[in-house]
Amino acid sequence: MIVAIDGPAGAGKSTVARKLAERLGFRYLDTGAMYRALTWLALREGLPLGDPEPLGELARRSPVVFDEVGRVFIAGSDVTAAIRQSRIDQVVPVVARHHPVREVMRERQRELGLQGNAVIEGRDIGTVVAPDAAVKIYLQADPEVRAARRQKERPDIGADALATDLRARDKSDRERMQPAGDAVLIDTTGLEVDDVVTRIEGLVRERSLATS
Ligand code: DC
Repeated sequence: MIVAIDGPAGAGKSTVARKLAERLGFRYLDTGAMYRALTWLALREGLPLGDPEPLGELARRSPVVFDEVGRVFIAGSDVTAAIRQSRIDQVVPVVARHHPVREVMRERQRELGLQGNAVIEGRDIGTVVAPDAAVKIYLQADPEVRAARRQKERPDIGADALATDLRARDKSDRERMQPAGDAVLIDTTGLEVDDVVTRIEGLVRERSLATS
């Protein structure tokens, strides 16, 4: 069974998806980490980030690998911490926008999703990567709350710069951020992580009972 968790940056996807996967005993797949890792590698290789084809080729020959504790590897390097730096936040939407890159990533995400029960988080999981997912969730939250959450994860960045970054990323990600028509929308603005996880867990269990 696949549980798709989509939504914008700071809506709570990663925290919720990771906890949900733990509770259900499902694998957890962070598709944003794949775009981030490719961006890290492109910067290291000095590839122009505006060129779709070379980036698509780089993605094809350098698959992103996750180990069993969630570390992220690309081209033999452990990039788990490096991909969370603000220099990556700022340019990852440019890389994620290219069709050749998305084609490679989506193919790989489907392969990983086929390996059994999984919680997959991203932007286009319920719409494109796994349109048949048993449960689709779209998380959202007020912009101020999303910026405040990001600030906690990026204490080195000023609040204004961070809010501006978030707005720029939203604008660029927007075309891929539409909720699937059959997604359950959850506004996490005033909710605790555990409450969100429990609500989704309930939906997953209902769905498993309905199909068993
Ligand atoms: O969720 P995140 O901030 O780690 O995502 C990093 C970038 O990758 C962000 O610009 C959105 C993009 N992304 C995407 O286009 N499709 C996905 N399935 C996941 C992330």
